[in-house]
Amino acid sequence: MSPDQSLKKILIIDFGSQFTQLIARRIRELGVFSEIVSHKKIRNKYIDDSIKGIILSGGPLNVYDIKRYSFDKNIIENNIPVLGICFGHQILSKLNGGRVKQSKHREFGLANIYMKKNSPLTKNFFRKNKTIKVWMSHADQVSKLPKNFRVIASSQNSKFAMVENQSKNFYGVQFHPEVTHTENGKKLLSNFIFLICKIKRNWSSRDQKKKLIRDIRKQVGKSRVICALSGGVDSSVVAQLLNKAIGKNLYCIFVNTGFLRKNEEKQVVETFKKKLRINLIYVNAENEFIRKLKNITDPEKKRKIIGNLFIKIFERYAKKIKRVKYLAQGTLYPDLIESKSVTGSRTSKIKSHHNVGGLPKKMKLSLVEPLKFLFKDEVRKLGLELNLSKEIISRHPFPGPGLAIRMPGMITREKIKILKEADYYFIKGLKDHKLYDKIWQAYAALLPVKTVGVMGDNRTYEYLCLLRAITSEDGMTADFFQFKKTFIQEISNKIVNSIRGINRVVYDVTSKPPSTIELE
Ligand code: XMP
Repeated sequence: MSPDQSLKKILIIDFGSQFTQLIARRIRELGVFSEIVSHKKIRNKYIDDSIKGIILSGGPLNVYDIKRYSFDKNIIENNIPVLGICFGHQILSKLNGGRVKQSKHREFGLANIYMKKNSPLTKNFFRKNKTIKVWMSHADQVSKLPKNFRVIASSQNSKFAMVENQSKNFYGVQFHPEVTHTENGKKLLSNFIFLICKIKRNWSSRDQKKKLIRDIRKQVGKSRVICALSGGVDSSVVAQLLNKAIGKNLYCIFVNTGFLRKNEEKQVVETFKKKLRINLIYVNAENEFIRKLKNITDPEKKRKIIGNLFIKIFERYAKKIKRVKYLAQGTLYPDLIESKSVTGSRTSKIKSHHNVGGLPKKMKLSLVEPLKFLFKDEVRKLGLELNLSKEIISRHPFPGPGLAIRMPGMITREKIKILKEADYYFIKGLKDHKLYDKIWQAYAALLPVKTVGVMGDNRTYEYLCLLRAITSEDGMTADFFQFKKTFIQEISNKIVNSIRGINRVVYDVTSKPPSTIELE
């Protein structure tokens, strides 16, 4: 269950709250390792000395609806401090003999709570007037306090908004300290972990780097490891970590599909082979990909062909390296969290994603996944700690099939060439105007229609270029970025004036949903 039992941690037991990952991130931001486990999976036998505190998350459940969840009560009887948040607060009260009922007034949004009593949990938490704004989101609430519990704070609608049993180190809060709307919420979590759990800081990028390098060496020993390098943030950090850990026993394979951004293959080779001295095999498969995609217009077919060919080529080169035992890939913590399915229902398939990692199943390699306990922002910080440039670390996401899914319809060499140029001018413009880091992802696409234009008294009949720039948290939802007219005008002029083949530029103003981020 645990990545390393020698690493002290705060265990977060997830009951399906949309905020559970936020709790883990806040604890880690405070410099302490935290791990999430689903309430469905946790058993008392898994609780060991490495766990210095337990947080029970919120969730959509009702404490009396015991068919929908099960929880081993012994888990809270290990002399480990417990903080219950929202549903976690209610279950902690119930397990200790309190009562929970549906509130007369459901509370969603901001509420004021009033301090009733001093507690280590609230040191420097309240304002001078002994109140603070917190974020509530609940229908049920504790209606009878368990024996030996006391009220720390109340709101107008929740008498037991904050409670404690100091002798057992049990604390419960009806609101969500992990969301930024709760004033000083991080202070409350900091009090819990440092003053109550008495855990020491152990989770800086430096700690992670040293530990991950040690772990990789321990796992792979003198064996050879292959890694598909895409030049994106995750695979770059994985490659550099392995490079530091095992040097020449790492073999990175970088496949140029022909659908990369302008000069990208040169930059990747320059950075990883020449600067970082990573053992890199560069495969130029442009022709093979373009040949296979000839006359293909269906988006899903394109994706399947590209994904399958990528695997074939990767395997072809991987086989040339003898005695390989491991495949390294950049799986992140959110991909792994067991409890993702507690609330999340499976959605219908919108697009098949072909990620570079996790590919050659046939080769029966064992996996090395050094980032599997990290969130994306932690991966970025680790990358900087590993001397990767800010440019690599702050790169926008780029899909595996690349530019191929940014030109609906038939793929031709001419279109690829035009699109590479358009994308180059757009991204350069964003960087020059210091907009790149404000945007989650931006790209140019080439639409399969030609329209009429006029340039210097001459009629033109050329392609339509679509620009897309979005803001997002995680790519699941997105909104379009609002540019100033002068910027978008400058880019449009630059593209039309510099590139033969485009005579019109449009800006995509749809959000996701209803659109997706990529066009195909
Ligand atoms: P959509 O278009 O589904 O994209 O809204 C969401 C995010 O996923 C990226 N994306 C991919 N990433 N392989 C990847 O590694 C893929 O096949 C793929 N397709 C889409 C997309 O760029 C956006 O960031």
